[in-house]
Amino acid sequence: MKIGLLGAGTIGFGVYEIAEKIPDLEITKVLDRRDIPQLRGKLTQDAAEILDDPAIDAVVELLGGVEPAHSWAVRALEAGKAVVTANKLMLSENLTEMAALSRKTGGKLRFSAAVGGGIPFLFNLLRARRVDEILEVGGILNGTTNYMLDMMQRENLGFEQALKLAQQAGYAEQDPTADVSGGDAKCKIHLSAALAWNGMPDKHDILCEGITSITKQDMEALNKKGYACKLLARAARQDGGISCYVEPTAVPARSVTGNIALVENMAFWRGANAGLQRFTGAGAGRYATAYAVVNDLVDLMRHNDAFPFLAEETPLPIDNAAAAHPYLVRGMEVPGAVEIGDGLLLTGEMPVLEMHAMVASARARGEKVFFAGVCEEQEL
Ligand code: HSE
Repeated sequence: MKIGLLGAGTIGFGVYEIAEKIPDLEITKVLDRRDIPQLRGKLTQDAAEILDDPAIDAVVELLGGVEPAHSWAVRALEAGKAVVTANKLMLSENLTEMAALSRKTGGKLRFSAAVGGGIPFLFNLLRARRVDEILEVGGILNGTTNYMLDMMQRENLGFEQALKLAQQAGYAEQDPTADVSGGDAKCKIHLSAALAWNGMPDKHDILCEGITSITKQDMEALNKKGYACKLLARAARQDGGISCYVEPTAVPARSVTGNIALVENMAFWRGANAGLQRFTGAGAGRYATAYAVVNDLVDLMRHNDAFPFLAEETPLPIDNAAAAHPYLVRGMEVPGAVEIGDGLLLTGEMPVLEMHAMVASARARGEKVFFAGVCEEQEL
């Protein structure tokens, strides 16, 4: 199979190195502005040389960002080429269009690496949905923030120092705001929910809080109370739709989720038949992610396409008033909440929608608020 590679950066070059060793996978052209000695003879600066080349069967898009990644992926699908990408932002912004186009042109679309890095999560979720009713999906879906929270908690590092290390390790996005704001996890829960329930959730309705408000003191306070702080993304079936949100979450320090360390991710679904199925492993980084991309290419080459990475275009409404749990809060009043020391309040069970709205109002008044959902599930 002949492949055109768009972008030979951290992941792209890893794809090249791994694919080179797989018989019959041939990366014939690589788009990159840099002169990369190992790629001489294949390099081009003109995307058309890949997109308009009838000899290229599959295009691997690893440019990151929305444009030109999106336009070029569309052009490849329109030409009937397969597209493999790890670009969760581009996919999440254009999911309905990309799914419709893939269906129309027969150009196959695969994005295993877009959620969970090296974890074979989406593929297995697609398999599961054939025979199970998916009740919930989610997990720790961002490696950078998990690495940072872990380093802040165990090594007592500051936020900036932890972020720098995550960037040096090649985990963070080009603009790490996407990681720390929760935006990256939001894209990933969006894609996971679409595939789990075979419909299109409106991304704008996903509530999202990142890790930028957590202080060392908050972290210590949570630890003292037996919690680890994790950035969790969750989506669950509700009457007539789903709930879907990303927020820092206090989980029991001894639970599985509480022990997901460094750049690891934990992606799960809960099925009516299968119960809780958790997948853990490297969620970011050159080779973990590149391996998942190459696996998609091998599936395409071998026509192992029993599980198309597609969702119907039917809208899947999001209702975050339907999901509720207690919260730990610092820096704002919450009626009925009780003080539990170290500056923290514990609320009763509260709808996710209400808590995120209260925090937005408090911040608009200039209050500096930290909040974390509380998840007492030992099994998660
Ligand atoms: N920046 C992302 C993360 C890369 O840290 O999880 C993998 O999607």
